[in-house]
Amino acid sequence: MEFSSYAQQILESEELEAKLSPPATPLTDEHACEAPPPPEKPARTKRHAITPRVKVPSPEGMPDPAQRVRILHAFANHELQAVEIFAWALLAYTDAPTAFRRGLIGILREEQRHFRLYEARLQAHGCDFGDFPLSGYFWGKAQTLSTPLRFVCAMSLTFESANLDHALDYARRAKDVGDKETAAVLLQIHDDEIGHVAFGWRWLREFKQADQNAWQAFSENLTFPLRPSKAKGPVFSEESREKAGIDQAFIHRLRDARD
Ligand SMILES: [Fe+2]
Ligand SMILES: [Fe+2]
Repeated sequence: MEFSSYAQQILESEELEAKLSPPATPLTDEHACEAPPPPEKPARTKRHAITPRVKVPSPEGMPDPAQRVRILHAFANHELQAVEIFAWALLAYTDAPTAFRRGLIGILREEQRHFRLYEARLQAHGCDFGDFPLSGYFWGKAQTLSTPLRFVCAMSLTFESANLDHALDYARRAKDVGDKETAAVLLQIHDDEIGHVAFGWRWLREFKQADQNAWQAFSENLTFPLRPSKAKGPVFSEESREKAGIDQAFIHRLRDARD
């Protein structure tokens, strides 16, 4: 099966099972240029339809199980959208190097597993995915991601970078209220996210112009309202970014970035 056929299956199938299943056969990338352009929106069942933006409850909601379940639901939705947006990228960037496209598939597969981890926590709280409205926040950004460089700046180095901080914050709060299983899921996702940010850092430097430094390339390839200050949470983890291999100069620019 081709990378792009697998991506198409994820975007065109309404059913979660089809979006979350591993490829049926080993994947190849020999006919990328024959792939159709990506759809404007992913197919979804009525139960999982995208509705106008739904907010993630703040971390202070963690002690209240009714709020916690909404947090878990919103996070599962982030993972599902990540699966779909990485599939979208495979259809959008058919000219990109196969090593880049292989990296997209690797991350997509991890996002599928992340969805399942949150889904299991939702079910442990007596809920199921689709019990609350679902936002399509990432999909609102797809039209601005005109190049692979813009894709890694927005996805890997803004959303996933911010998630390094958010995952640690929510994990600490889950642990404080005695929900060790949720804390463990958040820490696992944090650790995987380091790899996703590392992917963005690698390809930022491959795709940027030779006369730009990494910070210039990053900040110039974000489309407002995305901006560097959106690439972090309230408590900035330098350590997580060091583990992603990001250099000190970039980490300090990001730490000091203000709205
Ligand atoms: Fe994830
Ligand atoms: Fe990720």
